[in-house]
Amino acid sequence: MIYQENTQAIYRKDYQQPDFFIDSVDLHFSLDEDVTLVHSRMTIRPRTENQKKPLILNGELLVLKSLKFNGHVLNATQYHVDKTHLTLPNVPAEAFELESIVEIKPQENTALTGLYQSSGNYCTQCEAEGFRRITYFLDRPDVMARYTTTIVADKSRYPVLLSNGNRVEYGELNDGRHWVKWADPFPKPSYLFALVAGNLYCHGGKFTTRSGREVRLEIWVEPQNHDQCEHALQSLQKAMRWDEERFGLEYDLDIYMIVAVGDFNMGAMENKGLNVFNAKFVLCRPDTATDDDYEGIEAVIAHEYFHNWTGNRVTCRDWFQLTLKEGLTVFRDQQFTEDMTSAAVKRIQDVRILRSAQFAEDQSPMAHPIRPESYIEMNNFYTVTVYNKGAEVIRLYQTLLGKDGFRRGMDLYFQRHDGQAVTCDDFRAAMADANQVDLTQFERWYDQAGTPVVEASGVYDATAKTYALTLRQQVPEHLQAWHIPVAVGLLGKEGQDLSLQLEETAPAKTTQVLELRELEQTFTFKNISELPIPSLLRHFSAPIKLNFSCQRQELAFLMAHDSDPFNRWEAGQQFAQQVIFDLLADWQAGKTLQLDALFSEAVLKILQDDKLDGSIKSLMLTLPTENFLGQQQAEVAVDGLFAVRQFVLKQLAEVHYAEWLAIYRANHQMPYSNSATAIACRRLKNTALHYICRLDTPETVNLAEKQFKQSDNMTDQQSALMCLVNTFSEERGQAIEYFYQQWRHNPLVLDKWFSVQATSYLPDTFDNVKALLQHQDFTLKNPNRARSLIAVFSQNQAQFHRADGLAYQLHADIVLQLNATNPQIASRFVSVFNHWRRFDANRQALMQAQLNRIIQHPNLSKDVYEVVSKSLN
Ligand code: PHE
Ligand code: ZN
Repeated sequence: MIYQENTQAIYRKDYQQPDFFIDSVDLHFSLDEDVTLVHSRMTIRPRTENQKKPLILNGELLVLKSLKFNGHVLNATQYHVDKTHLTLPNVPAEAFELESIVEIKPQENTALTGLYQSSGNYCTQCEAEGFRRITYFLDRPDVMARYTTTIVADKSRYPVLLSNGNRVEYGELNDGRHWVKWADPFPKPSYLFALVAGNLYCHGGKFTTRSGREVRLEIWVEPQNHDQCEHALQSLQKAMRWDEERFGLEYDLDIYMIVAVGDFNMGAMENKGLNVFNAKFVLCRPDTATDDDYEGIEAVIAHEYFHNWTGNRVTCRDWFQLTLKEGLTVFRDQQFTEDMTSAAVKRIQDVRILRSAQFAEDQSPMAHPIRPESYIEMNNFYTVTVYNKGAEVIRLYQTLLGKDGFRRGMDLYFQRHDGQAVTCDDFRAAMADANQVDLTQFERWYDQAGTPVVEASGVYDATAKTYALTLRQQVPEHLQAWHIPVAVGLLGKEGQDLSLQLEETAPAKTTQVLELRELEQTFTFKNISELPIPSLLRHFSAPIKLNFSCQRQELAFLMAHDSDPFNRWEAGQQFAQQVIFDLLADWQAGKTLQLDALFSEAVLKILQDDKLDGSIKSLMLTLPTENFLGQQQAEVAVDGLFAVRQFVLKQLAEVHYAEWLAIYRANHQMPYSNSATAIACRRLKNTALHYICRLDTPETVNLAEKQFKQSDNMTDQQSALMCLVNTFSEERGQAIEYFYQQWRHNPLVLDKWFSVQATSYLPDTFDNVKALLQHQDFTLKNPNRARSLIAVFSQNQAQFHRADGLAYQLHADIVLQLNATNPQIASRFVSVFNHWRRFDANRQALMQAQLNRIIQHPNLSKDVYEVVSKSLN
C-alpha cells in the first residue's frame, strides 16, 4: 500500500465524551497576502475533577509560532506537535487559559476548507472539520464555546469584515489597516464559526419577529452582482415567517447575514448569524437564472435559515448524528417549499431525487444507514442518504403521528435540548414521549442501510364486500422488519375515491395510513361494494420500493383519475417503464419497434387535460431517465435503453405533434413573471418544445432558435439552447457561440453553457467535452465550473458509458488532478464509478481498471481512498 494519509476508520460505537471543554475563545485574525496570523485565547476546563488526561487539540496545516499556558510561554519540551495534533501531556485538573499564535496561508488553500480566498475575498468553511485548519482546537461538535473574533485587514482591499454574532467594536490603525470585533452570545461548536473579509456590496432589509423584535437582514455579494439579491432577501423573509407560523420558532440574534461566494464546495453553510453561500444559491435575475434556480435559491436560503434551530441551537453530539440536523432540516425546507409552491410538484421532484440518487447509493458499495456506523473521511458522508433519505425518515414521524403530533414532538425536542449537542435517539425519544407512542422499532430506519422492498397483493370478496390487502416486506437475513406507514386509497369504477373503513368503530377516510410492522400483514377494508383499483403508497408515504402487479389498463386508469396527484404521476411513470422495457426486449431481439397504443392514448389524455396544473402536466409528460431505468435492471443496458427511450420520445413527438404545437403556442405568449402560474406555463411550453424538436426539421429548429434569441428570461433561453444542442443544424453552433458571447462574463450563466453541451445526447458529446476542458474559461479550481462540465457529463449515461472506455479514462485523469487540489470534489466525482458492477463485463473491466489506477496513485487523499477502496472491495 503506497497510501500515506491515515486511513483508519472511526466508529460510532467508540464515541466518548471529550476530556476537556472550551468555554470561551477569543480569536484575533491578521489577514495578509503573505501569511495570516491567527491568535487564539481559550479558557479550557477538564470535564471531570481530578482527571489526569493530556490535552489533545486538533490542528492541520498550521505553523505554530507561540504557545502560552496561563500567561507563561511554553517551551518545546512542554508540548508535542505533529501533522494533526498539538498535545500538552501535563495540564492541571482545573480551568486554565491557553493562548496560541499560528500562521496559515489562505491564498494557497485550494481545498476550500478552513480559511481560503475566493475572488480575492477571504472566507471560511469549517464544517465538518475545517476549523482545525484555522487554529488548534477541540474540533468536535460536542465542544461548544462562546466566541469573540477580531479581524484586522487592509481597509481599501477589505473594507468589509464579518464574523458571527454582533459587531461590538471597530477602529482604524495608522498603517492603512482597520479592524472589527464581533461577539457571538450563543455557545456554538467550532464548525459553525465563520469569517468573511472583502470588498462586498450589501443588499439590506429587515424582518420583524412575531414578538416584535426587529432583525437586520444583509445579503453580501461582489459589487457587480448588486442587482441579483432581492429574491434571496424575500426568500429569507418568507422562511423566517414560515418557521414562526409552522413551528413557533423565532430568530434569536439582531442581525442575519448571508455572503455569496463564487468558490464553494457545497450549496451553502449555516454558520451562526453569518451564512456563507455558493453564489449559485443567492444570485438571480430573470435573464440570468431559470425558474428552477429561483426555486433552488428559495429552498436553500430557507434550509440554512431553518438550521438556526435544527442544527445550531440544538446541534449534533458527533458526526455520526449528522442526519439529526440535515435530515430534519431538509424535511423542513421541503415542507416550506410544499407550502410556498405546490405540494404535489415538490413531492414528485423530491421523490425523483431520492429514487434516482439515493436508491442508487443504497445499491452501491458506499451504501450506509442514515446514521452511519463508521467513516474514514467525514466529508464523504454528506450524502443523499443522510440528507434525503434522512428527510424521508423525519417525514415518517409526521405521517405516523400527524402534523400536530409531529409539532408536539418538535416542541418537546427544543424544550429538552436547546443549547445541547444531542443524538438521533434523543430526537426519536422526544417524538415518542410527546405522543406517548412506542418508537422502538422505528430505530431500524436509523441503523439499517438499504431500501426496503414491499410486495402488495389484494383480494376482493364480492359477497362479503371486503377488500383484503396483504403487505409483505422482504427483509434481508441480517436485518429486521421496518415500521412502514403505507398510505392507501381505493378507486371505484368512475375513478372516485371509495370510503375506507378498517374497524367497525374507526372513522372512514378516503386515504388510510396502514402501519406495516411485521414481515407480513393483511388489512381488510369493509363495505367495499365494487371491485376497486388500489392506489398504494400515496404521496410516497415511505422511502421504499413497492411491488404491486398492475395491468396497463389499471395504470392508465390511475394516471387519468387518481385523486392523489403523486400517484397519478407515479402510474404514468410505471406505465412508461413497462412500455420501455417491453420495447427493449424487442430491440434486443432485433424486432422493429412499435409504440404501445394504450400508452400513447394515455399521454394524449394528459396533453388534453385542461384541469391539470402545467407543472404537474409537464412532469407527467417526462419519461423516467436512462439512469433511473438502468437501476431497475440487473445489468444496465446502456445502448438499448438509450435507443428505446429516444424512440419513444420521437414517437410521442410525431404522433401528437399537433397537440405539442398547440400547447406550445397557447403557453408562449405569457409575459415573464415569477408567479407559479407563469412558471407552470413555461414548464409546459418548454416540455412541448423538447418534443417538437425531436423532429429536427427546419421548422422545429426555427422555433427553438426564435425562442432562444427572443426570450427575456433564462428559463426559455436555456431550454431552447438545450433543444438546439441536440440537433444537427447549423443553428446549433451559432446558438452555442451566441450564448457564449452574450454571457461569457457571468460565471453562473457560463456554467450553464458548459452544462448544456455536456448533456447533449448526440454522439459527438464526448469529443466536445474533451475540447471544452481546454476552453479558456474552463478550470477545475472552481467547483461550480468543474461540476458544470465533469459531473454533468458523468450523468449523461449513454455518452459517459461509451463502450470504448475513453470517457472513463478522462474522468479518472480529472479525479487524480482534483485529488491533489480539492479532495472533496475529487471524491464526489469518483463516485460515479461506484456503480461499476452494475454494467456489462466490458464496461466493468474498463471502470475497474480506472479504479485500480486511482488506488495505486501515491498521495491519495482520505476522501478518494475511502470511496475507491470500498468500491473495489
Ligand atoms: N451544512 C451544510 C448544509 O447542508 C452543508 C455543508 C456541509 C456545507 C459541509 C459545507 C460543508 O446546509
Ligand atoms: Zn443542511
